[in-house]
Amino acid sequence: MTSAAGWSAGYVTDTAYMRGYYPEQSPVQLALAALLMGVQTDLPGPSDEVSYLELGCGQGFGATVLAAANPGWRITAVDFNPAHVAAARRTAAELGLANIRFLEADLATLPEDPLMAEIPEADVASLHGVWSWVSPEVRGGIVRLLRARVRPGGLVHISYNALPGWQSALLLQRLVREAGRRLAHGSIEQARAGLDLVRDLMAAEADGLAKSTRVTDILRLLEKAAPDYIAHEYMNGCWSPCWHADVATDLAAAKLDYIGSARLLTNFNDLMLTEAQRAIANRFADPLMRELVVDACNEPTLRHDIYVRGTRRLSIGARDTALEAVTLALPMPPEEMIYAVTVPAGRASLNEAYYRPMIEHLAEGPCTVGELLALPALAGHARNPTEVVGMLLGSGQALALARPGTPMNNVSRHLNALTRTRYLNADTMTRPSAMACPALAGGLPTALAHFYVAERFAAAGGIDATGIDTEAWARQLAPADAPAEGIAALAKQMADEVRRHGRLWRWLGIA
Ligand SMILES: C[S@@+](CC[C@H](N)C(=O)[O-])C[C@H]1O[C@@H](n2cnc3c(N)ncnc32)[C@H](O)[C@@H]1O
Repeated sequence: MTSAAGWSAGYVTDTAYMRGYYPEQSPVQLALAALLMGVQTDLPGPSDEVSYLELGCGQGFGATVLAAANPGWRITAVDFNPAHVAAARRTAAELGLANIRFLEADLATLPEDPLMAEIPEADVASLHGVWSWVSPEVRGGIVRLLRARVRPGGLVHISYNALPGWQSALLLQRLVREAGRRLAHGSIEQARAGLDLVRDLMAAEADGLAKSTRVTDILRLLEKAAPDYIAHEYMNGCWSPCWHADVATDLAAAKLDYIGSARLLTNFNDLMLTEAQRAIANRFADPLMRELVVDACNEPTLRHDIYVRGTRRLSIGARDTALEAVTLALPMPPEEMIYAVTVPAGRASLNEAYYRPMIEHLAEGPCTVGELLALPALAGHARNPTEVVGMLLGSGQALALARPGTPMNNVSRHLNALTRTRYLNADTMTRPSAMACPALAGGLPTALAHFYVAERFAAAGGIDATGIDTEAWARQLAPADAPAEGIAALAKQMADEVRRHGRLWRWLGIA
């Protein structure tokens, strides 16, 4: 359901959007992607003077994590839903965060509003889950705002539902919204009623649904999705998935050039396309046409695109030097390293002779890509920092430390404790969230139950400490009536979490 007062222009406002942290929005991740694509940019650290702007920030969790982890940054986050802004401001006030401002404004009209004077020029701007869900008027306002407020050389992250990925499921969304509005009251109930109707039609063998494997996949995923997510995803009046080239054309009016994806592996055509597909893509020099071929071959439903306001290309040497300076940390024990990664083009093998010595070295502690490439065991191998950064970070088997050695700060500890106490309960243990962490200049994605494990681990004082009694921890966290097997299983999961992430928490100063 949209607002009775009509201010929402068809956008869902009767239920708040869930809190989430999305690494693709992190300025460090965006800068790394830009570097990989050979575009000049700096890796921002927590004390640098960075101005970050988020448009359509929801309840502001991601922006708050960035503000806590980066005291030097100035963050401005905008949303038109007063309930979202009120929740975001409350948390910021509770933390005493002075480097973040939440503005309540409609993006359709903000560029012409006096409030615009309060938005500083942005080094990085991000809009996640907004563009394909809002009206053409709002998109127009976003383009005018980006044109006026993104600094020359600044980066913009934009995610949106994409075509042709959504092509075979357009009917699904239309049915959910149209049927839901007629059958129930309130966005969450409407989405539920609409999805029930879709399932009934599938059972009755409606060709438009039953023949689409995409529809079947989406319905399976939605079984586990949060109701507020489904409402915001399916009940908006203006939802309209977009072609990449159309978004690029719209953003060109803000002098923004497309440079690549915030999902790092997506930037490697060798991983996204088979040899035959690559040969077709290579018939074109125009990046928009090549991207259309990539989308035709992979059909992503959500794109995470990065634009820059004025591209400055780096020489290969300058790019490699910048990438060699990046510090990596191993987020898991070395024996869990996966050397054959599944990618759209098939299986990408990471040459063990090349990567194993790096992983073993990283198991001892964070170090730069340059240090890894200089390992004696790698003598004779090509020095390829682009591949190392792309593959290790892109496959999630390394983390980039923006400023290694930066200690935790009080406000990040406070936010992490607040996230745990406010949102962790017996039903939310596995729900994803993120811990604020200055060494990462962002968030460490972590399930809510593991916030508690990290806290207890920090209090225990070390990996080999006798204070690590996960049985006792599990008893404290589990509901009072939990059966003994349930507590034992939770204790085992906690011990496993300490084994897998304890060292990382130490390196990051989290524990
Ligand atoms: C799907 S949510 C994404 C929230 C947040 N970016 C996140 O990823 O958690 C989209 C957000 O855009 C906001 N929004 C929609 N239309 C808007 C408009 N015209 N002006 C400002 N915000 C708007 C909604 O209130 C909602 O919080």
